[in-house]
Amino acid sequence: MAVTTRTRKSARRRQLEAAINYPIDWLEERSGLIGGLRYFLFRKVPGDTNWFHTLGSATLTAFLVQALTGVILAMYYQPDATVNPATGTSAAYGSIQHITNDLTLGWLVRGMHKWGASVFIILLFFHMARVFLFGAYKYPRELNWIIGVTLLVFGMLEGFTGYLLPWDQTAYWATVVGINLNGTAPILGPFLADFLRGGAEIGGDTLSRFYSLHMLLLPGAIFALIGLHLYLVIRLGVTSPPWSREAAGTDWNEKPSENGRSGLTQPSGRSAWRRNGADT
Ligand code: HEM
Repeated sequence: MAVTTRTRKSARRRQLEAAINYPIDWLEERSGLIGGLRYFLFRKVPGDTNWFHTLGSATLTAFLVQALTGVILAMYYQPDATVNPATGTSAAYGSIQHITNDLTLGWLVRGMHKWGASVFIILLFFHMARVFLFGAYKYPRELNWIIGVTLLVFGMLEGFTGYLLPWDQTAYWATVVGINLNGTAPILGPFLADFLRGGAEIGGDTLSRFYSLHMLLLPGAIFALIGLHLYLVIRLGVTSPPWSREAAGTDWNEKPSENGRSGLTQPSGRSAWRRNGADT
C-alpha cells in the first residue's frame, strides 16, 4: 500500500518536473539564455570576497528601484509649465501634488523615488571607494573604471535633471544656480548653458528638455553602461581585498594568445608579455 502511494507520488513529481522543465528547455534550446544565466549566477569568485563586494549590487538594486518608481511616476506626471488659471499653479506642480495627495500610495512611490535618488548616489560613492581602496581599477580593469566614472557622471546628471521636475521655487532656483555654474566653464560653458535652458530663459522648454533627458536618454544610457560594466565584471572576475595574496596588481594569469594576434582581438597576458622580455 505504502509502496503504491510512493510510486504514485514520484510519478506526479516527475510530471510536475517535466511541466516545469519544458518551457526552460524550450528557451535554452532556442537562445542559450539559461546556460548564460547559470554561468552568471554560479561563476567562481575569490574565496576572500566580503561584504564590501556587495556594494555594486546594492547600487544596482537602488538604480532598479529608481527605474521602477520612475515608471510609475511618469504615468501621472505632466512635464507642462502652463499655469492653470483656475488653480494658479502649473500643470507640472499640480500633477506632483496630485501624485502626493490623491493617488493611492502616491506619497510612498514619490518618497521612494526622491529619497532613493540620494541612496543611489551615496551607494555609488561607497562602491567607487571600495573599488579604489581595493586597487580594482588597475590592469586589466581600467576600462571598467572608465565605464564606472561615466556611470557616476550620468547618475549625477539624473539627480540634476530630476530636481527641476516638481517645478516649484526650490526646483527653479536650484536649476538657475546649476545652469549658471555650467555656464562659467571655459569655451563650452555658454553653449552648455544654452543647451540646458533650451533658450535664453528657463521655462517650459527647459522643463520638457530636462524631462526627456531624465526619463529617456540618461536611464537608457545608464542601463546600457551597467550591462557593459557587468559583462566586464564577469569576464575579468572580482578583485580580492588588498591584504590577500591574490590582490589586484599581482600578475594577471590570462593565457596568452596562440594565433599571433595578441592585443588586437585577443587579450595578451601581461605576465607572459613580461616573461618574454617585451617591456624590459
Ligand atoms: C550604476 C552604477 C554602478 C553599478 C550598478 C555597478 C555595479 C557593479 C557590480 C555589481 C560590480 C561587481 C561587484 C562589486 O565589485 O561590487 C561592480 C564592479 C566594479 N565596478 Fe561598478 N557599478 C557602478 C558604478 C561604478 C563606478 C562609479 C565605478 C568607478 C568609478 C565602478 C567601478 C567598478 C570596477 C572597477 C569594478 C570591478 C571591481 C573588481 O574587480 O573587484 N563602478 N560594479
